[in-house]
Amino acid sequence: MNFPSPQDSLSTSHDLGWTPIAEEAERAARVLHPDYQLPRPRRRRVLTVANQKGGVGKTTSAVNLAAGLALHGLKTLVIDLDPQGNASTALNVEHRSGTPSVYEMLLGEVSLVDAAAVSEQSPNLLCVPATIDLAGSEIELVSMQSREARLKEALSDHALDQLGVDYVFVDCPPSLGLLTVNALVAAREVLIPIQCEYYALEGLGQLLSNIELVQQHLNRELSVSTILLTMYDGRTKLADQVTQEVRRHFGEVVLKTVIPRSVKVSEAPGYGQTVLAYDPGSRGAMSYLDAAREVAERGAAENQEGRG
Ligand SMILES: Nc1ncnc2c1ncn2[C@@H]1O[C@H](COP(=O)(O)OP(=O)(O)OP(=O)(O)O)[C@@H](O)[C@H]1O
Ligand SMILES: [Mg+2]
Repeated sequence: MNFPSPQDSLSTSHDLGWTPIAEEAERAARVLHPDYQLPRPRRRRVLTVANQKGGVGKTTSAVNLAAGLALHGLKTLVIDLDPQGNASTALNVEHRSGTPSVYEMLLGEVSLVDAAAVSEQSPNLLCVPATIDLAGSEIELVSMQSREARLKEALSDHALDQLGVDYVFVDCPPSLGLLTVNALVAAREVLIPIQCEYYALEGLGQLLSNIELVQQHLNRELSVSTILLTMYDGRTKLADQVTQEVRRHFGEVVLKTVIPRSVKVSEAPGYGQTVLAYDPGSRGAMSYLDAAREVAERGAAENQEGRG
C-alpha cells in the first residue's frame, strides 16, 4: 500500500515550502490513514512503561503509542496500574470506585476479560482502568501470596488470547513499589520514557538496578527494549545535550523519533482523548505515530530474525 514515506516529524513548513495548514492536513491524513497497517509482531509483546520519576511522560507515551498501534490495525491493551488513573482518563474509560478494574484483577476477583473496556478511540484499543481503590494496594499486596506475580497471573496467555491483543502497555505509577514490581514481572520488555530535561537522568541508575534485581530473581526474560525521549524543546541546547547523552549511553535501544513538547499533547487528556484523536494534524500526534511505527517495525524485525 502506498503510504507517504516517513519524514522527520520535526521538519517545518519552511523546509517543505508549504503553508502550515497544508502541512497540518498532510500530517492528519497520515495519522488517520485508514489503509495504513502496521506489521504484527510474531508473538504478543508486553511492555511495561516505567520510570519512578514523576511527570516524565509515562502515561502520555503509553496511551498515545497504544493509540498509534490500534489505529493502524494492531489490537492493543493498556493496563492502568497507577492509582492516579491518568491512562483511564486519557482513554475516557469509566474508572469510578467500584468499576471492575486492575485492583479487582490483582485480587483475583475479576478476570482480564471482565476488567478490560473498549475505548471510544478505536475498537482495537482496550483499557483495564485503575480506580482510587488501587491506592491502598501497595500495602494490601504485602501480605498476599505471590505478591509480585499477581499481575502476571492475571495476564496469562489464555486471558490475553481471549482478548486477541498484539500489544500490551502497562502504565506504572511514579514509584518502585510493589505495583511497579508486578508490572516488571508481568512483562518481557521495559519501555523507559526520558524527559529531555536537566534532571532527566537522575534516578535512572536506581530504576536500572531494580530492573536487574527483577531479572535475577523474578523474571529472567525481562529487558529494557525501548527508550523514548519526550518533551523535547528544540529551542534549548539542554534538550540536545540530554538527547545526545542518552543516545551515547543507551545506543540502539533509544527510538529515533523524539516526542516534542507540545501543548496539544497536554490538552488531549482533558478531553478524554489521545492526541491522535484530539488533533491528528499536530506534531505531537505525528511523532507518536512515528514512534508507534518504530515500535511495530522492531517487533516485526524480531520476527524475521526468529526472535520474539
Ligand atoms: N510531549 C508533551 N508535550 C507537552 N506536555 C506533555 C508532553 N508529554 C506529557 N506532557 C504533560 O506532562 C505531564 C506529565 O505527563 P504524564 O502524565 O504522561 O507523565 P507521567 O510520567 O505518567 O506522570 P506520573 O509520574 O505522575 O504518572 C502531563 O500534564 C502531560 O499532559
Ligand atoms: Mg502517569
